[in-house]
Amino acid sequence: MQDRLEQIKQNFKKDIAGILTLESLEEIEKKYLGRKDGELTAILKILKNLSPEEKATIGKLANEIRQEIEGEISSTRKKIEHGANKFSVDFDITLPGKEVEQGHIHPINQFIEKLSNIFLSMGFEIIEGNEVENEEYNFDLLNIPADHPARDKWDTYFVKNREQKLLLRTHISPMQIRAMRDRQPPVRLVVPGRAFRHESVDASHETTFYQCECLVIDKNISLTDLVGTLKIVFQKIFDQDVKVRVRPSFFPFVEPGLEVDMSCLLCGGKGCPVCKHKGWVEMLGAGMVHPKVLENMGVDPNEYSGFAFGLGVDRLMMALYGVDDIRLIHKGDLRFNKQF
Ligand code: DAH
Repeated sequence: MQDRLEQIKQNFKKDIAGILTLESLEEIEKKYLGRKDGELTAILKILKNLSPEEKATIGKLANEIRQEIEGEISSTRKKIEHGANKFSVDFDITLPGKEVEQGHIHPINQFIEKLSNIFLSMGFEIIEGNEVENEEYNFDLLNIPADHPARDKWDTYFVKNREQKLLLRTHISPMQIRAMRDRQPPVRLVVPGRAFRHESVDASHETTFYQCECLVIDKNISLTDLVGTLKIVFQKIFDQDVKVRVRPSFFPFVEPGLEVDMSCLLCGGKGCPVCKHKGWVEMLGAGMVHPKVLENMGVDPNEYSGFAFGLGVDRLMMALYGVDDIRLIHKGDLRFNKQF
């Protein structure tokens, strides 16, 4: 009899555990405590036939179980009435949730934001440009006529067939002309973005890379404005005095043209793969906007002058953060990206 009571108790516990509605609760109540044929009621009914000793032990146990069952039924009823039972069965709401991994801005874009903010603080306008260009803007209007050997400098990806004259811009200088289509001097603007070249890839060359083109046009702009602007920009990026070297160079859209180098911060000027063991890193091409290009912009070269430069954004970012391989920037390797 004792075993039977224990079993009733266990069965009841199992039955009540999955209960979500008042109807099924009532069914359980009837199954165990129903007046006519409740399982526990049946035992309580025959208690009177037992010997006094058995009555004492079994009766006590049966009553305890009855109280327990009644208590549990009434507390479950309350829970259902208050809606608290709704979720308690399928999962444990106290378990900690699964952590959702959150991404963040890619390191090169973080750096472009930093760069843009520096130019903004100096009163520059930031604009965006198109990555698919045509030959006219990428070359002709920048004073690089067809068949001029200077075109070879920019190994070009043409889009579809050559007749369409569409290409992936090999630099952002075409934006100088595009920007001036709806602007009048004075202008101070920068264009950050991607450029594409058919390069052989190594630690410091990629087929896709970032540049930031800068254009200033006003009256009486001279080379000192260019060098002064660059020095301030470098100081703000690296938060220190950086050594800058200027060499004469040739770019068809500027006259005179300059190549600007910065001492390699990665090796401190001693030489490493990134600076090709020179101690200097080529940072940008620059110069005074060529009179022909000013004319192509619709600007009178007798009245206005200007300077332009094209910053190598990847290289600047690599120098700032000590990244020794440009390919890391485009790989999408989370081990790299998560470090920023
Ligand atoms: N567009 C050139 C390049 O990608 C870089 C450059 C040189 C930009 C001189 C300029 C400049 O604005 O004045 O190779």
